[in-house]
Parts: sequence; C-alpha cells; structure tokens
Amino acid sequence: MLIDGKKISDDIKREIAQTVESMLAQGKKRPHLAAVLVGHDGGSETYVAHKIKACEQCGFKSTLVRFESDVTEQQLLDTIDKLNNDNDIDGFIVQLPLPRHISEQKIIEAIDYRKDVDGFHPINVGRMSIGLPCFVSATPAGIMELLARYNISTKGARCVVLGRSNIVGKPMATLMMQKHNPGDATVTVCHSATKDIKKICAEADIVIAALGQPGFVTEDMIKPGATVIDVGTTRVPDSTRKSGFRLSGDVDFANVEPKCSWITPVPGGVGPMTIVSLMKNTLHAACHDIYPE
Ligand code: GUN
Repeated sequence: MLIDGKKISDDIKREIAQTVESMLAQGKKRPHLAAVLVGHDGGSETYVAHKIKACEQCGFKSTLVRFESDVTEQQLLDTIDKLNNDNDIDGFIVQLPLPRHISEQKIIEAIDYRKDVDGFHPINVGRMSIGLPCFVSATPAGIMELLARYNISTKGARCVVLGRSNIVGKPMATLMMQKHNPGDATVTVCHSATKDIKKICAEADIVIAALGQPGFVTEDMIKPGATVIDVGTTRVPDSTRKSGFRLSGDVDFANVEPKCSWITPVPGGVGPMTIVSLMKNTLHAACHDIYPE
C-alpha cells in the first residue's frame, strides 16, 4: 500500500495554518522563515521555491536571500550574523550544497542553534542523539511522522538505513533506535563499504533508502511484507517531460511495490514531508517551545 506523503503534508500544513491563525488572534507575531540560496543549482532552486510556497500555505512570512556562486565565505558569515540578530526572523536555513570554496561546516556552526530549523548545528545534532528537545533535521523528522501517522510498527523491528549522510542517514538511524514510538528499532546502517548489503536488506522489516542511486533497491532485497521508505530524488534525463528530467527514487518501485506492505512513492512520498517538517520546526522556533527565551 502507498504511503501518501502529499496528503499527510497537506493535512499538516492545514494544522499549522490554523495554529498560526490562533497565534495572530492572540496578538503574537507571524512566524518568519528566511532561506539563503547560493548559485543556481536546479535542485536547490526547486527545493527553496517549494519551501517559500509552503510558508505561504502555512501563513508564515518568508524571506529569500540570494547570492551568486562567487560569494565569499565572509559575506555568508556576515549574512548569518545579521539573521541571527534579526528579532523578526524566527528561523533560517542555508540551502546546501554550497560552492566548494565555502566550508559548509563553518557556515552551519555560525548559525544560532536556536534558529537552526534545519537541525544541522552540532548542538541540535548532539541533543538529538541523547534524546533532548531540539530541532530535528527535516527529512528524518518527516519519515518519523509518516511512520507515526500510518501506525507502522517499529518497536523491535529490524530497520536497515541505506546511506550515512549527516542530513539523512545518520539522524535517521539515531531516531529509529531511540527509546520512543516510533523508534525502538534494531538499526543497521549500510554504506558504500558494507559487505552483503542485499542479504542485510532482505532481513529487514523496514528499509530506508537514502543513497541517491536510482533503482538501487531491487525486489530480491526486500522481505515480503516489509515497509520501504524511499528518500532518493535523483534527476534523470527524460525527453518526454517538459523539464527534460524526472525524479527517480533509490527503489525499483515497479518490482518492489507488489512485495511490500507499505512503500513511499517518488515523487509524493518523503519529499513533501521534508518541507512540512521544516515548517513545523519554524513554528517551534516562533513559539520558543524547544528553546525558551
Ligand atoms: N540540501 C538537501 N537537503 C537539504 C535540507 O534539508 N536543508 C538544506 N539547507 N539544504 C539541503
């Protein structure tokens, strides 16, 4: 059966918009998210446009700060300093990847962790890993929300995470193993150096694929009745599309879907949940309910 991330994300956006209405009725300010976008990478342009549109749908104010790809690291650090000190901005993100002459880690660490709605700052990552309130990075948070809303049992489940990125794989593994529901799973993280990856996957009750390799997860890697979460969003050339490409997941959907109990489509699965999790984090930032003033 299909996990409908688009529908769940629309439901959550409506819930957020209602909360914003009641905040405004109480005389509170409108939540405000800023996004910093460097250069013109097609994927980043699309993601940021979706984030700005989601802000409108949730009743948030949004600000886009753009730079060409020759921006210096110091110019970006100065911008972050301004955003950190701007009392109207509740949270902000710097869209990744950044040009190679800029240290992503230096940029991430310059962000005030109380405004780090991406959950990339080491303080948020560290707090998440020991189960303290924090901003959780959006893709793993969105996947946890899908598992919760579809009542997918995770306690004691064998969960395989494919990929070990700081943005998805590592936080995903941390959340799935935490003593919580959803969570409480027995987690294995597989990556480029893993041996017997097919065999490990075939024992899993839940497979979360976040490698960025179209069609990597094939039907022989999936146990009958397993849940499959596809985080892949690789652009592959497609001359039948106006854009010239389509998004491809990490899962061979056509052959895997008949075998599993639950599966996320691409697009319309994890992607919309990532955006809505960022909106939820922005609402938390505006309400100061993770980090009280
Ligand atoms: N690049 C890919 N995913 C993300 C994300 O969630 N946040 C930011 N800032 N950049 C990204």
